[in-house]
Amino acid sequence: MSEGGSDKPLLVVAVDGPSAAGKGTLGRGIAKHFQLPFLDTGLLYRAVAARLLAAGADPTDAAAAEAAANRVDFRELDDPRLRDDAVAQGASKVAAIPAVRAALLGLQRRFATDPPPGPDGRVKGVVLDGRDIGTVVCPEAPIKLFVTASLEARAARRHRELLARSGESIYARVLQDMKERDDRDAKRAVAPLIPAPDALVLDTTGLDAAAALAVAVAHISRRWRDDIALAPSSSDSAGDPAR
Ligand code: DC
Repeated sequence: MSEGGSDKPLLVVAVDGPSAAGKGTLGRGIAKHFQLPFLDTGLLYRAVAARLLAAGADPTDAAAAEAAANRVDFRELDDPRLRDDAVAQGASKVAAIPAVRAALLGLQRRFATDPPPGPDGRVKGVVLDGRDIGTVVCPEAPIKLFVTASLEARAARRHRELLARSGESIYARVLQDMKERDDRDAKRAVAPLIPAPDALVLDTTGLDAAAALAVAVAHISRRWRDDIALAPSSSDSAGDPAR
């Protein structure tokens, strides 16, 4: 892994954690700050589930799920239907199928080892968010963050999000769904959700998005301080307490 064919290693930032912990917002914020491309790997699992649901197939059908995973490509990740809760529940089921994980591994690794240019047109690294980026997809990533928050805080965030989006949500139901997904993600045999031993654990229960971003940017800047190419974008408002 090197920057633009040079010997400089790529800045691969692995952001893992349970759902609604704030890792998507944080990952996007880091990507914007350092002008890196961003991949939300949960969307790949959601795309597999969406394909199965659209075909009327059961998300626990391993053969159908593997076939769907082999057809997934990055162009379908912008579909807003991937955000639906039924798709999220299906995604956590297909994510427990080893053949699905294997089929999606190559796509994710290629994105990390041969990333597209960032918004500034330069190839210098990538940010991936998911559950197993620091442990399985990119175990050699120089920066690993494990973003977490209490179950109740995460359920409250998701509840607010659903209310804002559709005007409908029942907190107790959201809490129960989240507990079930957490259980499936943490207990599955392949690539369970656990922090990498060298990850910085960031608990966002009492942090807003700007505060979490400031902590992450300070950590990355300290770790990567020799790389002067990582000038933050001027439109970034979170600031960098490390400077
Ligand atoms: O982050 P998300 O809610 O979009 O993820 C959807 C499901 O996919 C979730 O249940 C966990 C799973 N997932 C995974 O197992 N590994 C990843 N790298 C990303 C997501």
